[in-house]
Amino acid sequence: MGYKGCCGFNNYLYICTHYDLYYNTFNLMLKKNIEQAINAQINAEFWSAYLYLSMSAYCHENGNTGMANWFAVQFKEEQDHAQLLFNYVISRGGRITLAPIAQVQTHWESPLQAFEDTLTHEQKVTEMINNLYALADSEKDYATQSMLRWFIDEQVEEEETAQEIIKNLRLIKDNGFGLFMLDKELGARTYTPVTTTNKD
Ligand code: FEO
Repeated sequence: MGYKGCCGFNNYLYICTHYDLYYNTFNLMLKKNIEQAINAQINAEFWSAYLYLSMSAYCHENGNTGMANWFAVQFKEEQDHAQLLFNYVISRGGRITLAPIAQVQTHWESPLQAFEDTLTHEQKVTEMINNLYALADSEKDYATQSMLRWFIDEQVEEEETAQEIIKNLRLIKDNGFGLFMLDKELGARTYTPVTTTNKD
């Protein structure tokens, strides 16, 4: 005995086929390659969070508590980035597959080196986001492109902020008062949960 579905097919197989056709036709579900790429990006965002938590620990050890705060806020924001992607996959009827988070570096030679690594890392994330956008474009997945535009804008800010701090640290060099003042400034950074309508 079959179930008579809305399409009128009196058979389970036909009902399933109808649903596949329905979702594919209206592009409600994520294509598998897009789903995989977003899951990889979720992992990259969590890895970023882990990296910045490690940098925060290093700054505490080094006596730069303001910089430690700055990285701690960064740690939380990266988790929010992962959550935004997570929510998007769910909203598109996709499947989340959380992978292990790889080991991160635990020591830097100086705060300057930590911020230089931050910039290098953010440039890699920018490349990943751009690649993801290009994939969505090639698949004509307009909803994913729309979602990713927020991340593209966010990456501009991420790189600009890291560059600004690096520029200051290079000017300051070993000047104790300069380092004290910059550390104080970075210590004032506060965390606001990230949504696609705010960026700080
Ligand atoms: Fe989520 Fe800093 O990129």
